[in-house]
Amino acid sequence: MKPQPSPQPAAPGVVRFYNFLPPGNNFLEDVLAGLARPQKSIPPKYFYDEQGCRLFEAICELPEYYLTRAETAILRTYIAEITQFIGPDAQLIEFGSGAQAKTRILIEALQTLLYVPVDIAEDTLRASSGELARLFPLLNVVGICADYTRPLWLPEFAGAAIRRKVVFFPGSTIGNFTPAEALVFLKQARRAAGAGGVLLVGVDLKKDKTTLDAAYADSKGVTAQFNLNLLARINRELGADFQPSRFRHRAFYDPIMGRIEMHLESLYSQLVHIAGRRFEFATGETLHTEFSCKYSIADFQELGKRAGFTPEKVWTDPEQLFSVHGMVAA
Ligand SMILES: C[S@@+](CC[C@H](N)C(=O)[O-])C[C@H]1O[C@@H](n2cnc3c(N)ncnc32)[C@H](O)[C@@H]1O
Repeated sequence: MKPQPSPQPAAPGVVRFYNFLPPGNNFLEDVLAGLARPQKSIPPKYFYDEQGCRLFEAICELPEYYLTRAETAILRTYIAEITQFIGPDAQLIEFGSGAQAKTRILIEALQTLLYVPVDIAEDTLRASSGELARLFPLLNVVGICADYTRPLWLPEFAGAAIRRKVVFFPGSTIGNFTPAEALVFLKQARRAAGAGGVLLVGVDLKKDKTTLDAAYADSKGVTAQFNLNLLARINRELGADFQPSRFRHRAFYDPIMGRIEMHLESLYSQLVHIAGRRFEFATGETLHTEFSCKYSIADFQELGKRAGFTPEKVWTDPEQLFSVHGMVAA
């Protein structure tokens, strides 16, 4: 796909902005196909409309959601080692950049000159990138609105004195893929990093069920709002007639599969209409909305190797809740 400059101007300080999403982003096709499956399911990338992004930021602040705090603490604690591992003059590419909060730690320490955030949520990408560019006036920010689950070729930036590319993928967003999908993604990250490039990826670790269940079903119900917001988005953008109050949030850790499963459970027998199609939900039937796969350090390193990386570093917090892996593209 050839980079097409977005028709809209970039935010102040953002040097360039590309939009690679197809018109409509295949939302309708994916929803219709997902609802027609025996286990109804919708890909988690559709959580992130403006409200979804806001709710995700609120989740990051929840006492039960240890992931963001643990990962941020790891980055802060080991930033000197991480900086040494990466070396000078690195281009930073971030997949699923969201609010770009953890990115600031890296940019400040690495004194990055070129930052390429990639996110599917255009408004959030523009807002976060604009804010970052204002904070770091010497930083060149090139925002890319794209879906990283599809083949993606990032533009090369001639003129920038870059020694190495670093692909940053924090937030344990890698866990939203099944291991087989994660391998495909990691191969794409390997291509983006190029030979000798670095992958810095945040990966949530396997742990007790009680901690994991609580992280995805918080007492304030913010994760429930995040999950149910998907139905509101489908109604608003695709003209569907979901009644969100007739569904409930369900999230649980499956220790055998090593993953959180997130679903919306139908509280009644009901019909939903979308684009002239009718879908039936039985009482108790679920719509699957997200996996969050958990790894051991060794299992994730093995996956990295299969994607063409050499695992070189792992940083964790004292409680071994979370890991940040540093891998080099072979
Ligand atoms: C779990 S949040 C993580 C945000 C941030 N990196 C962090 O660590 O807190 C996932 C981010 O990835 C983006 N995202 C999800 N699926 C995506 C996809 N298929 N392509 C591009 N961005 C995606 C979302 O918009 C959101 O900003």
